[in-house]
Amino acid sequence: MAVEKGLKSMTDKQFDERVDRTGTNSVKWDYRDEIFGRSDVLPMWVADSDWPTSGQVIDAIVERAKHGVFGYTKPGEETDELVVNWWKKRYGWEVDPSWIVYTNGVVPALSMVIESFVRPGEGVVLQPPVYYPFFTSVERGGSQILSNELKMENGRYRMDHDNLRELCNDSDGSIPASPPPTMMVLCNPHNPVGRVWTKKELERLADICLEKDVMMVSDDIHSEFIYEGHNYTPIASLSEEVAKHSITLTSPSKAFNTAGLPASVAIIPDETIRSRFKVAQNKVLKNPSVFGLEALMAAYRDGEKWLNAQIAYLQENMEFSYGFAKEKIPLVNPVKPEGTILLWLDFRPLGLEKEELEDLMVNKARVGLDFGHWFGPGGEGFVRLNFACPRSTLEEGLERISRAVKSKT
Ligand SMILES: Cc1ncc(COP(=O)(O)O)c(C=O)c1O
Repeated sequence: MAVEKGLKSMTDKQFDERVDRTGTNSVKWDYRDEIFGRSDVLPMWVADSDWPTSGQVIDAIVERAKHGVFGYTKPGEETDELVVNWWKKRYGWEVDPSWIVYTNGVVPALSMVIESFVRPGEGVVLQPPVYYPFFTSVERGGSQILSNELKMENGRYRMDHDNLRELCNDSDGSIPASPPPTMMVLCNPHNPVGRVWTKKELERLADICLEKDVMMVSDDIHSEFIYEGHNYTPIASLSEEVAKHSITLTSPSKAFNTAGLPASVAIIPDETIRSRFKVAQNKVLKNPSVFGLEALMAAYRDGEKWLNAQIAYLQENMEFSYGFAKEKIPLVNPVKPEGTILLWLDFRPLGLEKEELEDLMVNKARVGLDFGHWFGPGGEGFVRLNFACPRSTLEEGLERISRAVKSKT
């Protein structure tokens, strides 16, 4: 991503600065004891960033706060226009304003989608290892998880289209082992393995889903974090037919580090699906809050320059952490991220049990990470490290891991 000369050094300074987040009720920093059993771990787990959001977003929130009246709020035409322009400008996808439904969080929206379109007992395809709230969202609605586990080939993950086809097949006369799926939940780019799915991979997936009448729900919250050499394709942009069988869930909250101000977007091109979703939404889901909405609008209106600078910094953090892990952490294999802010590290060559790996990271390295088994089948023996932090923090965390692993080998 090209960053204007001069802007880079200025913004690097911003991202290099260590901000003390303790005492702010930060899940990542203030709940270390609860999650890891000790509060002296360097937290590199929750997927938020350790730097302030863009100045434009902060200014918009401060201005709105000064108004002082914070009654019920609802996004209108101006917000629609900002969302439409963002997608068109950044990804060339023409979103019709009528397709947009605002929600207060991607995870709540996903739960609502599953509840609205999948009956208890029906199947939902997930592709583990995957962001763990997907499992709870499916289980909450009483539907059944159908696992289409990702396959690793030469250090890179791929989707298993053949297995997906098999999961969908219920017409060979035999009694199916599991119910055929009603829905498939995609994560693009994929948390935790960092794949940015190619157009070709998505087309193959969409062909199967269309043929078997499986609704495609895509969580694209990490879509702003794409590294050099990779292109993000919203699955709904493949064709009109795919769009009509899809729901895209996204939010600027990852890219602009505003997860504490939930405000998200569901893009639902099919009118019938959209009306059903809206009926369900009116019962439970709320519109974004006053400040969530301000943040979303400011990000999409004024945030692109800051975002591009942040991506340039993240590109370097990604390369630094990948290179460090490859060279300096014995036996551990990093999976090179194509997108997201997450490095997926394969600790399996160390041959540790789950508890031993946790002990090594928490009590020896003193680093707080997401453990692979949280992400379902295929995640055992891995850890996930969030590299959206100042380079010095990243280096410190990696050094700690390296030292702990060396003491073991
Ligand atoms: C893939 C994915 N989806 C959704 C979320 C959370 O979204 P929200 O905070 O809008 O519920 C995350 C946060 O890490 C995520 O990684």
